[in-house]
Amino acid sequence: VKVGVLGVPMHFGQGKPGVRNGPKAIRDAGLLQRLSDHVGLEVNDYGDLDIAHGAHVDDVSKDGNWTIKNSRACGTANKKLADAVYNTLQTNDICVNLGGDHSMAVGSIFGHSQARPNLSVLWVDAHPDLNNPTTSPSGNIHGMPLHFLLKDLENKRTPISDFDWCKSCVSSPNIGFIAIRDIDPGEIAIMKRYNIPHCSIREIDRNGIAHCMEKILDMINPSGNRPLHVSFDIDSVDPGIAPSTGTPVRGGLSYREAMYVTEEVARTGSLSAFDLVEVNPELDPKRAEATAEVAVDVITHALGLSIRDTDYR
Ligand code: ARG
Ligand code: MN
Ligand code: MN
Ligand code: MN
Repeated sequence: VKVGVLGVPMHFGQGKPGVRNGPKAIRDAGLLQRLSDHVGLEVNDYGDLDIAHGAHVDDVSKDGNWTIKNSRACGTANKKLADAVYNTLQTNDICVNLGGDHSMAVGSIFGHSQARPNLSVLWVDAHPDLNNPTTSPSGNIHGMPLHFLLKDLENKRTPISDFDWCKSCVSSPNIGFIAIRDIDPGEIAIMKRYNIPHCSIREIDRNGIAHCMEKILDMINPSGNRPLHVSFDIDSVDPGIAPSTGTPVRGGLSYREAMYVTEEVARTGSLSAFDLVEVNPELDPKRAEATAEVAVDVITHALGLSIRDTDYR
């Protein structure tokens, strides 16, 4: 199996610049060596995307009712990422994208869908990131990537010039949320309206992670023949074990639950692209390394580590 790795030092989607050092922190924690030596994959590292750190320009609506922060830089960088993911998938089986903030899912999922249509998307996160400029409490694009990607929202989309290149490419039955526990009112309305598959943290408490993973994978990819995109926000994991992130929310996935999620991803055999986002080594310097190590474990398990090493074969 050939794996292409892209570093995405994106930080325009929120206000804490240290997240641009996420790719370095994850590489420093040994990702590449673990993938090649322990998982046994052929790894091609394409380094970090060159993201211009130009002036920050916001889009403001004519009536002044909303602001979307850094929209230009964020849109331009995401276009670059979309092209890079597309290219990576021409010569690799799987593309691994190291964030960076979660606004990068716009580029990674769009680029993936251009290379391999009919995706299903597993969104592992404390947040559903379904806001739009009018529902967003923050104006931060990392809380809005799915606004640009969901086909059902296509004609409700707020036109933002630097995101014009991104066409909606995922249908609501084919995206599923797991571990969500901090949801804004506008996001709840969208989830209900389009009946988006999800497993909240409460459902994990009640029914267990095994049941939840089986349910969600079956919902988003019933036939099993869609390529799978996993967008894994490190804040899905409990801040007790992965604290160095921008919007931590208490009561997240345990270490084993996070590994179980990714082991089940590996077991589908359909993983085609994986984002690991929101590691910000500057926010909790003492535990930044530990946070990056959890990120490495998440990625290596998604790519098959424990399937090889434990009870599956
Ligand atoms: N819902 C909040 C917002 O829209 C927080 C989003 C956090 N997103 C993330 N990718 N960490 O501003
Ligand atoms: Mn999140
Ligand atoms: Mn909130
Ligand atoms: Mn997120």
